[in-house]
Amino acid sequence: MENVLSHAQLLAVAEEYGTPLYVYHEDKIVSQYQRLVKAFNNEKVRFFYACKALTNINILKVLKAQGCNIDCSSINEVKLALHVGFDPKNVLYTSNGIDFEEIETARSLGVIINIDSLSNLKKFGQKFGSSYPVGVRLRPNIMAGGNLKISTGHDKSKFGIPVDQLDQLLDIISQHQINITNLHIHTGSDIKDVDVFVKGIEVLFEIIPHFPNLKSIDLGGGFKVAYKEDDPAIDIEALAASVLETFASNELTKDLQIWFEPGKFLVSESGYFVTKVNVLKETSATTFAGVNSGFNHLIRPMFYDAYHRIANLSNPQGEEKEYTITGNICETDTFAWSRPLPEVREGDLLVFYNAGAYGFEMSSNYNSRFKPAEVLITNGSARLIRKRDVFEDLLRGQLVD
Ligand code: LLP
Repeated sequence: MENVLSHAQLLAVAEEYGTPLYVYHEDKIVSQYQRLVKAFNNEKVRFFYACKALTNINILKVLKAQGCNIDCSSINEVKLALHVGFDPKNVLYTSNGIDFEEIETARSLGVIINIDSLSNLKKFGQKFGSSYPVGVRLRPNIMAGGNLKISTGHDKSKFGIPVDQLDQLLDIISQHQINITNLHIHTGSDIKDVDVFVKGIEVLFEIIPHFPNLKSIDLGGGFKVAYKEDDPAIDIEALAASVLETFASNELTKDLQIWFEPGKFLVSESGYFVTKVNVLKETSATTFAGVNSGFNHLIRPMFYDAYHRIANLSNPQGEEKEYTITGNICETDTFAWSRPLPEVREGDLLVFYNAGAYGFEMSSNYNSRFKPAEVLITNGSARLIRKRDVFEDLLRGQLVD
Protein backbone atom coordinates (compact mmCIF):
# COMPACT_ATOMS: atom_id res chain seq x y z
CA MET A 1 0.00 0.00 0.00
CA GLU A 2 1.43 3.35 -0.94
CA ASN A 3 1.59 6.47 1.18
CA VAL A 4 1.25 4.88 4.58
CA LEU A 5 2.47 6.67 7.70
CA SER A 6 4.98 4.57 9.65
CA HIS A 7 4.69 3.65 13.32
CA ALA A 8 7.67 5.91 14.00
CA GLN A 9 5.95 8.91 12.36
CA LEU A 10 2.74 8.28 14.28
CA LEU A 11 4.60 7.90 17.59
CA ALA A 12 6.44 11.14 16.93
CA VAL A 13 3.26 13.17 16.27
CA ALA A 14 1.48 11.59 19.22
CA GLU A 15 4.45 12.53 21.39
CA GLU A 16 4.30 16.10 20.16
CA TYR A 17 0.53 16.69 20.16
CA GLY A 18 -0.74 14.17 22.73
CA THR A 19 -3.59 11.70 22.41
CA PRO A 20 -6.31 11.03 21.44
CA LEU A 21 -5.25 12.45 18.10
CA TYR A 22 -6.48 12.37 14.53
CA VAL A 23 -3.60 12.42 12.04
CA TYR A 24 -4.15 12.95 8.31
CA HIS A 25 -1.66 12.33 5.55
CA GLU A 26 -1.91 14.84 2.72
CA ASP A 27 0.05 12.71 0.23
CA LYS A 28 -2.52 9.93 0.55
CA ILE A 29 -5.45 12.27 -0.13
CA VAL A 30 -3.68 13.65 -3.18
CA SER A 31 -2.74 10.22 -4.50
CA GLN A 32 -6.32 8.95 -4.11
CA TYR A 33 -7.62 11.96 -6.01
CA GLN A 34 -5.01 11.52 -8.72
CA ARG A 35 -5.91 7.86 -8.98
CA LEU A 36 -9.51 8.79 -9.77
CA VAL A 37 -8.49 11.40 -12.33
CA LYS A 38 -6.11 8.98 -14.01
CA ALA A 39 -8.56 6.08 -14.01
CA PHE A 40 -11.29 8.10 -15.72
CA ASN A 41 -8.98 10.31 -17.79
CA ASN A 42 -11.96 11.95 -19.43
CA GLU A 43 -12.86 15.60 -19.55
CA LYS A 44 -16.58 14.83 -19.26
CA VAL A 45 -16.00 13.51 -15.73
CA ARG A 46 -16.05 15.81 -12.68
CA PHE A 47 -15.36 14.84 -9.09
CA PHE A 48 -17.02 16.55 -6.14
CA TYR A 49 -15.48 15.66 -2.76
CA ALA A 50 -18.32 14.63 -0.41
CA CYS A 51 -17.01 16.77 2.39
CA LYS A 52 -19.34 15.32 5.01
CA ALA A 53 -16.59 12.71 5.40
CA LEU A 54 -14.15 15.26 6.80
CA THR A 55 -14.72 19.00 6.74
CA ASN A 56 -11.60 20.39 8.38
CA ILE A 57 -10.97 23.41 6.17
CA ASN A 58 -7.33 22.44 5.73
CA ILE A 59 -8.46 19.20 4.10
CA LEU A 60 -10.89 21.11 1.90
CA LYS A 61 -7.98 23.29 0.80
CA VAL A 62 -5.86 20.26 -0.11
CA LEU A 63 -8.57 18.99 -2.46
CA LYS A 64 -9.33 22.42 -3.83
CA ALA A 65 -5.66 22.86 -4.73
CA GLN A 66 -5.92 19.61 -6.70
CA GLY A 67 -8.77 21.02 -8.75
CA CYS A 68 -11.41 18.84 -7.09
CA ASN A 69 -14.95 20.20 -6.75
CA ILE A 70 -16.97 19.82 -3.56
CA ASP A 71 -20.26 18.17 -2.58
CA CYS A 72 -22.07 19.46 0.49
CA SER A 73 -24.90 18.03 2.54
CA SER A 74 -25.85 21.08 4.57
CA ILE A 75 -25.89 24.80 4.02
CA ASN A 76 -23.09 25.12 6.56
CA GLU A 77 -20.89 22.80 4.52
CA VAL A 78 -21.68 25.05 1.54
CA LYS A 79 -20.55 28.05 3.59
CA LEU A 80 -17.36 26.25 4.64
CA ALA A 81 -16.61 25.47 0.99
CA LEU A 82 -17.12 29.08 -0.03
CA HIS A 83 -15.10 30.19 2.99
CA VAL A 84 -12.05 28.32 1.73
CA GLY A 85 -12.49 29.84 -1.71
CA PHE A 86 -14.28 27.23 -3.81
CA ASP A 87 -15.97 28.90 -6.76
CA PRO A 88 -19.77 28.53 -6.32
CA LYS A 89 -19.83 26.88 -9.77
CA ASN A 90 -17.80 24.03 -8.27
CA VAL A 91 -19.93 23.63 -5.15
CA LEU A 92 -22.76 21.14 -5.21
CA TYR A 93 -25.43 21.04 -2.53
CA THR A 94 -27.23 17.72 -2.41
CA SER A 95 -29.87 18.25 0.22
CA ASN A 96 -32.20 15.90 2.04
CA GLY A 97 -35.22 16.78 4.14
CA ILE A 98 -34.31 20.44 4.47
CA ASP A 99 -36.30 23.59 4.99
CA PHE A 100 -36.91 25.37 1.69
CA GLU A 101 -35.15 28.39 3.17
CA GLU A 102 -31.82 26.53 2.85
CA ILE A 103 -32.46 26.02 -0.84
CA GLU A 104 -33.13 29.74 -1.20
CA THR A 105 -29.87 30.49 0.58
CA ALA A 106 -27.99 28.05 -1.64
CA ARG A 107 -29.48 29.75 -4.67
CA SER A 108 -28.49 33.18 -3.44
CA LEU A 109 -24.94 31.86 -2.93
CA GLY A 110 -24.92 30.70 -6.54
CA VAL A 111 -24.08 27.02 -5.93
CA ILE A 112 -25.33 23.98 -7.80
CA ILE A 113 -28.38 22.45 -6.13
CA ASN A 114 -29.87 18.96 -6.17
CA ILE A 115 -33.40 18.87 -4.80
CA ASP A 116 -34.58 15.59 -3.31
CA SER A 117 -38.32 15.94 -2.75
CA LEU A 118 -41.33 16.79 -4.88
CA SER A 119 -42.42 19.18 -2.17
CA ASN A 120 -39.26 21.31 -2.28
CA LEU A 121 -39.13 21.08 -6.07
CA LYS A 122 -42.64 22.49 -6.27
CA LYS A 123 -41.73 25.37 -3.95
CA PHE A 124 -38.63 25.96 -6.05
CA GLY A 125 -40.72 26.05 -9.22
CA GLN A 126 -43.28 28.41 -7.72
CA LYS A 127 -40.59 30.81 -6.58
CA PHE A 128 -37.95 30.61 -9.28
CA GLY A 129 -39.55 28.96 -12.32
CA SER A 130 -36.93 28.44 -15.00
CA SER A 131 -34.64 31.22 -13.77
CA TYR A 132 -32.12 29.01 -11.94
CA PRO A 133 -30.96 25.62 -13.25
CA VAL A 134 -31.39 22.82 -10.77
CA GLY A 135 -30.81 19.09 -10.35
CA VAL A 136 -33.06 16.44 -8.88
CA ARG A 137 -32.01 13.56 -6.69
CA LEU A 138 -33.79 10.38 -7.71
CA ARG A 139 -34.25 7.18 -5.81
CA PRO A 140 -33.52 4.39 -8.28
CA ASN A 141 -34.88 1.62 -6.00
CA ILE A 142 -31.60 -0.27 -6.04
CA MET A 143 -30.22 -1.99 -2.93
CA ALA A 144 -26.53 -1.24 -2.53
CA GLY A 145 -23.94 -0.42 0.11
CA GLY A 146 -22.09 -2.07 2.96
CA ASN A 147 -24.98 -2.27 5.42
CA LEU A 148 -28.59 -1.12 5.69
CA LYS A 149 -27.70 2.02 7.64
CA ILE A 150 -25.61 3.29 4.73
CA SER A 151 -27.88 2.07 1.90
CA THR A 152 -29.75 4.98 0.39
CA GLY A 153 -31.12 3.97 -3.00
CA HIS A 154 -33.54 1.20 -2.08
CA ASP A 155 -37.31 1.30 -2.15
CA LYS A 156 -37.69 2.11 1.55
CA SER A 157 -35.09 4.87 1.62
CA LYS A 158 -35.94 8.46 2.57
CA PHE A 159 -33.53 9.76 -0.04
CA GLY A 160 -34.47 11.12 -3.41
CA ILE A 161 -37.63 11.24 -5.47
CA PRO A 162 -38.67 7.66 -6.22
CA VAL A 163 -38.33 6.94 -9.95
CA ASP A 164 -41.81 5.42 -9.78
CA GLN A 165 -43.09 8.98 -9.19
CA LEU A 166 -41.72 10.15 -12.53
CA ASP A 167 -45.14 11.33 -13.74
CA GLN A 168 -45.63 13.60 -10.74
CA LEU A 169 -42.08 14.88 -11.13
CA LEU A 170 -42.65 15.71 -14.79
CA ASP A 171 -45.94 17.44 -13.99
CA ILE A 172 -44.25 19.77 -11.50
CA ILE A 173 -41.42 20.47 -13.92
CA SER A 174 -43.73 21.33 -16.79
CA GLN A 175 -46.13 23.34 -14.64
CA HIS A 176 -43.33 25.67 -13.53
CA GLN A 177 -41.01 25.32 -16.52
CA ILE A 178 -38.24 24.20 -14.18
CA ASN A 179 -34.86 23.97 -15.86
CA ILE A 180 -33.56 20.53 -14.84
CA THR A 181 -29.89 20.24 -15.72
CA ASN A 182 -28.71 17.39 -13.49
CA LEU A 183 -30.07 13.97 -12.52
CA HIS A 184 -28.55 12.62 -9.32
CA ILE A 185 -28.48 9.23 -7.61
CA HIS A 186 -26.44 8.00 -4.66
CA THR A 187 -27.24 4.43 -3.75
CA GLY A 188 -25.05 3.92 -0.69
CA SER A 189 -21.62 3.83 0.89
CA ASP A 190 -19.03 1.00 0.85
CA ILE A 191 -20.06 -0.14 -2.64
CA LYS A 192 -17.55 -2.59 -4.06
CA ASP A 193 -19.58 -3.80 -6.98
CA VAL A 194 -19.07 -1.87 -10.23
CA ASP A 195 -22.35 -3.22 -11.60
CA VAL A 196 -24.32 -1.23 -9.03
CA PHE A 197 -23.23 1.94 -10.80
CA VAL A 198 -24.09 0.47 -14.20
CA LYS A 199 -27.54 -0.51 -12.92
CA GLY A 200 -28.07 3.03 -11.66
CA ILE A 201 -27.01 4.47 -15.00
CA GLU A 202 -29.45 2.19 -16.79
CA VAL A 203 -32.31 3.45 -14.62
CA LEU A 204 -31.36 7.01 -15.52
CA PHE A 205 -30.95 6.23 -19.22
CA GLU A 206 -34.60 5.22 -19.42
CA ILE A 207 -35.76 8.62 -18.26
CA ILE A 208 -33.18 10.93 -19.86
CA PRO A 209 -35.46 11.71 -22.85
CA HIS A 210 -37.85 13.48 -20.45
CA PHE A 211 -35.18 16.04 -19.53
CA PRO A 212 -34.21 18.00 -22.64
CA ASN A 213 -32.05 20.56 -20.75
CA LEU A 214 -29.89 17.96 -19.05
CA LYS A 215 -26.18 18.75 -18.77
CA SER A 216 -24.96 16.13 -16.31
CA ILE A 217 -25.62 12.81 -14.69
CA ASP A 218 -24.47 12.62 -11.09
CA LEU A 219 -23.77 9.12 -9.82
CA GLY A 220 -22.97 10.07 -6.22
CA GLY A 221 -20.21 8.49 -4.17
CA GLY A 222 -19.87 5.29 -2.20
CA PHE A 223 -16.64 3.81 -3.55
CA LYS A 224 -15.54 1.15 -1.09
CA VAL A 225 -12.06 1.19 0.37
CA ALA A 226 -10.37 -1.71 2.18
CA TYR A 227 -10.77 -1.65 5.95
CA LYS A 228 -8.82 -4.84 6.62
CA GLU A 229 -6.24 -7.01 4.94
CA ASP A 230 -7.87 -8.82 2.01
CA ASP A 231 -10.96 -6.63 2.27
CA PRO A 232 -12.32 -6.06 -1.22
CA ALA A 233 -12.21 -2.45 -2.38
CA ILE A 234 -13.94 -1.12 -5.46
CA ASP A 235 -11.78 -1.52 -8.55
CA ILE A 236 -11.67 2.11 -9.66
CA GLU A 237 -10.08 1.35 -13.00
CA ALA A 238 -12.78 -1.24 -13.77
CA LEU A 239 -15.45 1.20 -12.60
CA ALA A 240 -14.10 3.88 -14.92
CA ALA A 241 -13.99 1.50 -17.87
CA SER A 242 -17.53 0.24 -17.24
CA VAL A 243 -19.10 3.64 -16.65
CA LEU A 244 -17.44 5.23 -19.67
CA GLU A 245 -18.39 2.30 -21.86
CA THR A 246 -22.00 2.40 -20.69
CA PHE A 247 -22.21 6.11 -21.44
CA ALA A 248 -20.53 5.65 -24.82
CA SER A 249 -23.23 3.14 -25.74
CA ASN A 250 -25.95 5.77 -25.47
CA GLU A 251 -26.10 8.50 -28.08
CA LEU A 252 -28.31 10.68 -25.83
CA THR A 253 -25.45 11.13 -23.34
CA LYS A 254 -22.85 12.40 -25.76
CA ASP A 255 -23.00 15.98 -24.45
CA LEU A 256 -23.53 15.07 -20.81
CA GLN A 257 -20.98 15.38 -18.05
CA ILE A 258 -20.58 12.53 -15.57
CA TRP A 259 -20.28 13.56 -11.93
CA PHE A 260 -19.15 11.61 -8.87
CA GLU A 261 -19.16 12.52 -5.18
CA PRO A 262 -16.52 10.41 -3.44
CA GLY A 263 -15.98 10.84 0.30
CA LYS A 264 -14.41 7.73 1.82
CA PHE A 265 -12.32 7.00 -1.25
CA LEU A 266 -10.52 10.33 -0.92
CA VAL A 267 -9.95 10.55 2.82
CA SER A 268 -10.57 7.28 4.67
CA GLU A 269 -7.10 5.79 4.35
CA SER A 270 -5.38 9.12 4.88
CA GLY A 271 -6.55 9.16 8.49
CA TYR A 272 -5.11 7.58 11.64
CA PHE A 273 -6.60 7.82 15.09
CA VAL A 274 -4.04 7.44 17.88
CA THR A 275 -5.16 6.60 21.42
CA LYS A 276 -3.45 5.62 24.67
CA VAL A 277 -4.27 2.56 26.77
CA ASN A 278 -5.44 3.74 30.17
CA VAL A 279 -6.42 0.49 31.82
CA LEU A 280 -5.96 -3.23 31.32
CA LYS A 281 -8.58 -5.44 32.90
CA GLU A 282 -8.25 -9.22 32.93
CA THR A 283 -11.56 -11.02 33.19
CA SER A 284 -12.68 -14.59 32.65
CA ALA A 285 -14.29 -13.56 29.36
CA THR A 286 -11.59 -11.39 27.81
CA THR A 287 -8.79 -8.95 28.51
CA PHE A 288 -10.07 -5.42 28.15
CA ALA A 289 -7.74 -2.68 26.98
CA GLY A 290 -9.50 0.57 27.82
CA VAL A 291 -8.24 3.52 25.79
CA ASN A 292 -8.46 7.29 26.41
CA SER A 293 -11.19 7.65 23.79
CA GLY A 294 -14.56 6.18 22.92
CA PHE A 295 -17.42 6.20 20.48
CA ASN A 296 -17.66 9.91 21.09
CA HIS A 297 -14.50 10.14 18.95
CA LEU A 298 -14.86 7.24 16.53
CA ILE A 299 -18.43 6.00 16.35
CA ARG A 300 -18.18 3.70 13.32
CA PRO A 301 -17.59 0.42 15.23
CA MET A 302 -20.50 1.03 17.61
CA PHE A 303 -22.84 2.52 15.03
CA TYR A 304 -22.23 0.34 11.99
CA ASP A 305 -20.31 -2.60 13.48
CA ALA A 306 -17.50 -1.25 11.32
CA TYR A 307 -14.11 -2.91 11.45
CA HIS A 308 -11.05 -0.71 11.92
CA ARG A 309 -7.60 -2.22 11.80
CA ILE A 310 -5.72 -1.54 15.04
CA ALA A 311 -1.97 -1.69 15.73
CA ASN A 312 0.08 -1.38 18.89
CA LEU A 313 2.52 1.40 18.06
CA SER A 314 4.43 1.07 21.33
CA ASN A 315 5.12 -2.64 21.35
CA PRO A 316 4.99 -3.95 17.78
CA GLN A 317 7.27 -6.89 18.56
CA GLY A 318 5.33 -7.99 21.64
CA GLU A 319 3.91 -11.48 21.95
CA GLU A 320 0.50 -11.71 20.30
CA LYS A 321 -2.54 -11.99 22.56
CA GLU A 322 -6.24 -11.19 22.25
CA TYR A 323 -7.66 -7.96 23.58
CA THR A 324 -11.07 -6.36 23.60
CA ILE A 325 -10.49 -2.69 22.92
CA THR A 326 -12.98 -0.50 24.75
CA GLY A 327 -13.59 3.21 25.16
CA ASN A 328 -14.14 5.21 28.31
CA ILE A 329 -17.72 6.25 27.58
CA CYS A 330 -20.21 5.16 30.20
CA GLU A 331 -21.97 2.68 27.91
CA THR A 332 -20.90 -0.57 26.28
CA ASP A 333 -18.32 1.26 24.27
CA THR A 334 -16.41 -1.28 22.22
CA PHE A 335 -14.06 -0.71 19.30
CA ALA A 336 -13.11 -4.35 18.73
CA TRP A 337 -13.77 -7.73 20.34
CA SER A 338 -11.02 -10.28 20.93
CA ARG A 339 -8.56 -8.67 18.57
CA PRO A 340 -5.11 -10.27 18.31
CA LEU A 341 -2.47 -7.62 19.05
CA PRO A 342 1.15 -7.60 20.17
CA GLU A 343 1.15 -7.51 23.98
CA VAL A 344 -0.65 -4.37 25.13
CA ARG A 345 0.59 -2.59 28.24
CA GLU A 346 -0.94 0.36 30.07
CA GLY A 347 0.43 3.51 28.45
CA ASP A 348 0.88 1.89 25.02
CA LEU A 349 -0.38 3.82 22.01
CA LEU A 350 -2.89 2.09 19.75
CA VAL A 351 -3.67 3.36 16.27
CA PHE A 352 -6.96 2.89 14.42
CA TYR A 353 -6.54 2.89 10.65
CA ASN A 354 -9.01 4.22 8.04
CA ALA A 355 -10.00 6.97 10.42
CA GLY A 356 -10.07 9.83 7.90
CA ALA A 357 -13.67 9.49 6.76
CA TYR A 358 -16.55 9.89 9.22
CA GLY A 359 -14.16 9.75 12.19
CA PHE A 360 -13.62 13.19 13.66
CA GLU A 361 -16.57 14.34 11.61
CA MET A 362 -19.02 12.22 13.58
CA SER A 363 -17.40 12.94 16.95
CA SER A 364 -19.21 14.55 19.86
CA ASN A 365 -18.73 15.79 23.40
CA TYR A 366 -20.79 12.95 24.91
CA ASN A 367 -19.94 12.40 28.59
CA SER A 368 -18.56 15.96 28.49
CA ARG A 369 -15.32 14.67 27.03
CA PHE A 370 -13.14 16.82 24.86
CA LYS A 371 -13.00 16.33 21.11
CA PRO A 372 -9.54 15.30 19.92
CA ALA A 373 -7.01 17.46 18.13
CA GLU A 374 -6.34 17.04 14.40
CA VAL A 375 -2.93 17.12 12.73
CA LEU A 376 -2.08 17.20 9.03
CA ILE A 377 1.17 15.77 7.70
CA THR A 378 2.37 17.52 4.57
CA ASN A 379 5.66 16.62 2.92
CA GLY A 380 6.72 14.80 6.07
CA SER A 381 6.04 17.63 8.50
CA ALA A 382 3.15 17.77 10.95
CA ARG A 383 0.94 20.77 11.62
CA LEU A 384 -1.91 21.17 14.09
CA ILE A 385 -5.12 21.86 12.14
CA ARG A 386 -7.56 21.76 15.03
CA LYS A 387 -6.89 22.33 18.70
CA ARG A 388 -7.99 19.77 21.24
CA ASP A 389 -11.07 20.97 23.14
CA VAL A 390 -10.55 22.69 26.46
CA PHE A 391 -13.00 23.04 29.34
CA GLU A 392 -14.34 26.38 28.03
CA ASP A 393 -15.49 24.58 24.87
CA LEU A 394 -17.91 22.56 27.00
CA LEU A 395 -19.41 25.72 28.44
CA ARG A 396 -19.51 27.67 25.17
CA GLY A 397 -23.08 28.62 24.33
CA GLN A 398 -24.53 27.58 27.69
CA LEU A 399 -26.47 30.31 29.46
CA VAL A 400 -26.88 30.89 33.16
CA ASP A 401 -29.16 33.25 35.04
N1 LLP B 1 -23.02 11.70 -1.99
C1 LLP B 1 -24.07 11.64 -1.18
C2 LLP B 1 -25.33 12.23 -1.61
C3 LLP B 1 -23.95 11.00 0.07
O1 LLP B 1 -25.01 10.91 0.86
C4 LLP B 1 -22.72 10.45 0.46
C5 LLP B 1 -22.56 9.80 1.75
C6 LLP B 1 -21.62 10.56 -0.43
C7 LLP B 1 -21.81 11.19 -1.65
C8 LLP B 1 -20.26 10.02 -0.09
O2 LLP B 1 -20.26 8.65 0.17
P1 LLP B 1 -18.85 7.91 0.38
O3 LLP B 1 -18.07 8.07 -0.89
O4 LLP B 1 -18.17 8.59 1.51
O5 LLP B 1 -19.20 6.51 0.71
N2 LLP B 1 -21.01 7.58 8.06
C9 LLP B 1 -21.04 6.40 7.21
C10 LLP B 1 -21.13 6.74 5.75
C11 LLP B 1 -22.35 7.58 5.46
C12 LLP B 1 -22.36 8.10 4.05
C13 LLP B 1 -23.42 9.15 3.91
N3 LLP B 1 -23.51 9.67 2.59
C14 LLP B 1 -19.81 5.55 7.49
O6 LLP B 1 -18.99 5.97 8.34
O7 LLP B 1 -19.66 4.46 6.94
